[in-house]
Amino acid sequence: MPDDIRPMTIAEMPAERASSPASKAQARGRFFNTGNAFNMQLPVVPDHLFTAEPLRALDPATPTSLIACDISDQLACAFPATTPLVLAHYARIRSGETLHTDFNASGVIAYVIAGRGTTTCAGETVAWNIGDLFILPGGEPATHTAGDTDSVLWVVTNEPQLAFENLRAPAPGQAPTDVVHYTGAEIARQIDLLYAVGRTEQIAGSALIFSAERQEATRNILPTLTAAMNSLPGGVVQRPHRHNSVAVSLVIKGERCFSVIDGKRKDWAPWATTITPPVSVHSHHNGGNEMALFLIIQDGGIFYHARAMGFEFAEQPEG
Ligand SMILES: [Fe+2]
Repeated sequence: MPDDIRPMTIAEMPAERASSPASKAQARGRFFNTGNAFNMQLPVVPDHLFTAEPLRALDPATPTSLIACDISDQLACAFPATTPLVLAHYARIRSGETLHTDFNASGVIAYVIAGRGTTTCAGETVAWNIGDLFILPGGEPATHTAGDTDSVLWVVTNEPQLAFENLRAPAPGQAPTDVVHYTGAEIARQIDLLYAVGRTEQIAGSALIFSAERQEATRNILPTLTAAMNSLPGGVVQRPHRHNSVAVSLVIKGERCFSVIDGKRKDWAPWATTITPPVSVHSHHNGGNEMALFLIIQDGGIFYHARAMGFEFAEQPEG
C-alpha cells in the first residue's frame, strides 16, 4: 500500500497481498486483521413463516413434486437454504405416484402431514401413515410412493451444511443414521407419558426428543440435527428462553397459537414452517383450549458438540 493513502486505522485497510510472490500459491494469499475481518455483516436469520409452500403442497392441483422452503437470497447463501445449515421441503405425492429423492445430506427427517404410503431406502421399506415420523440415511436414494390417497410429507435435511463445505453425502452404508420409524400412535403415547410423569419449571417444556439405537448416547437423531415434538396445553405459555441453535418448526396442531420472538408476535398458520432465529429470546403461546403440537428441527447437535449451546431462560424485551 502506498504511503500517501495510508488509512486511519487497520479497520479501513483493504485485503493485503504478498509484495513479491514467488509462486501462484504465494500470490493467492490474502491478509486481513482484527479491524477489518471481524466486522463483516452477514444478513440475520429472519423469523420467517412459510405459508405459501404448505398451501401449494396441500393443493390437489399440485403435481407430485418437492417444494423447498428456500430463502437463500435473504440469507446470502449460494445454495438452497431455510436457515444456514437446514433445508425444509414439502413433498406432494399423488395417489399411486412415486417421488424419487437423493438429497446431498447426511440424513433426512420426514413427517407425514397427509395420506399414507411407503418409502424405500437402503434396502428397507417404511409403511407410513398420517402423523408418523421417519428418518432416512443420507447418501441413499429413496422412493416415496403414495397409497390410495394423495400424500404430503414435510422433509428436512442438512443439505446446506454439506453445501457450505462443498461436501458429498456419505457413501452408501456410511451415513450416521439408520432407517428409523416412529408411528403417530407411539408418538402420542410417549407425549401422554411426559404429562403423566410431570416436570419442574427448570425443564424448558414438554417436548418429546427423537433418538434411535445408534444415537442413544448423544440423545439426538443426527450429529447436527435434533428432532423434537413440542406440545403446549391450552392456555399455556412456554417460558421465554434462548439458545444458539436455530429452530425450523412445522405447525401440526394449534388454535390461536403464536410465538413471541424478541418481543414481536408471530401468529402460527396451519402446516406452516416457522424459523426461530438463533440467539433470539422466544416463547410459545397457546391461546386456545386444545393441546398444540409442533415438530421442531434444530441444528442443536453441532452446538452441543462444540460445547456452545448457550441455553438460558430469558425475559422478553418490550415488543
Ligand atoms: Fe427454544
